[in-house]
Amino acid sequence: MDINAIGAQVGPDIDKIVSLQEWESARVKYLGRKGLIAQLTAEIPNLPLQERGKFGQEANVLKNKILALLEEKKRSIEIQPAKSTMGAIDISLPGIAAQPGHLHPITQTIDEICMVFNRMGFSVVEGPEIETEENNFTGLNIPLEHPSRDAFDTFYLKPQAKSSQRLLLRSHTSPVQVRTMKSRKPPLAVVVPGRVYRPDAVDASHSFMFHQIEGVMVDAGIKFSDLKGVLEVFVKAIFGQDIKMRFRPHFFPFTEPSAEADISCIICKGKGCSVCGRKGWLEILGSGMIHPNVFKYVGYDPKKYTGFAFGLGIERIAMLKYGIDDIRLFFQNDLRFLKQF
Ligand code: DAH
Repeated sequence: MDINAIGAQVGPDIDKIVSLQEWESARVKYLGRKGLIAQLTAEIPNLPLQERGKFGQEANVLKNKILALLEEKKRSIEIQPAKSTMGAIDISLPGIAAQPGHLHPITQTIDEICMVFNRMGFSVVEGPEIETEENNFTGLNIPLEHPSRDAFDTFYLKPQAKSSQRLLLRSHTSPVQVRTMKSRKPPLAVVVPGRVYRPDAVDASHSFMFHQIEGVMVDAGIKFSDLKGVLEVFVKAIFGQDIKMRFRPHFFPFTEPSAEADISCIICKGKGCSVCGRKGWLEILGSGMIHPNVFKYVGYDPKKYTGFAFGLGIERIAMLKYGIDDIRLFFQNDLRFLKQF
């Protein structure tokens, strides 16, 4: 074969290749030790002296062209699966299992707590995270100069041009008491889950954002013993029938009398350990009988109605229930943690 015939044939020849075996045969045919290019160059010594240089150059150009064509072909074969197997499905291979997600442990805890109160006749309502200063403080009998406001007083929004109301990220779910009582008449019983914001530096037990559930019940003749009974059902449903509960006198501006509720330590069963600080008791919530000033603010007659309210931190409940020692775990989206729930 002469050099021009090889040059004309090689393009279509390589074009037809569809498999690596065919590719290898073509490589041997053109570039192998006894291939067409080798045969051409073997003839060089037989040529007249003045033609040898030109012939050698042309053979070299053709060899490089074949190399380039083969190289390109090889890449295209490797990228595409061989035509014969394209579209074939091996139905005996195991499938790729979907990894369904699940509810976040905080959401699970909220749902569980709401369900317990739901069974006692409470309905679930929600309020906005951006709240007015009135609802967050003044309406709850927390006056501007009150010291208990310091721990809460934070995250104000830039004042709106025309609005005289100052807005802030709510520091507790209690403002939803005010909203609910303003929009409904007694009797009422609601629980209010949601996010709250505080100026706390983040550490193992503090977060600038966390979740609370507020509870409110108002009617003629609601007593402190009703509060106690409702909370007792709640702690037993969440922590088990053996758990004990006690009230400690406390102060909240929006309740009178006020109390904090403790449960017997779930780790040491009340004997005293490092989790309960050797006290045998764990504080879990604030509560009390709704202050007459709050009733007056929302337009209820404090002589006709009484009611109780309580508020608790969801993360704290979940941490106690599941033995979690760092609140930050809830917010880091680490699947190794989340998959355990
Ligand atoms: N709002 C309080 C807090 O964030 C918790 C609280 C205490 C809520 C007593 C109440 C209550 O409804 O009666 O610390």
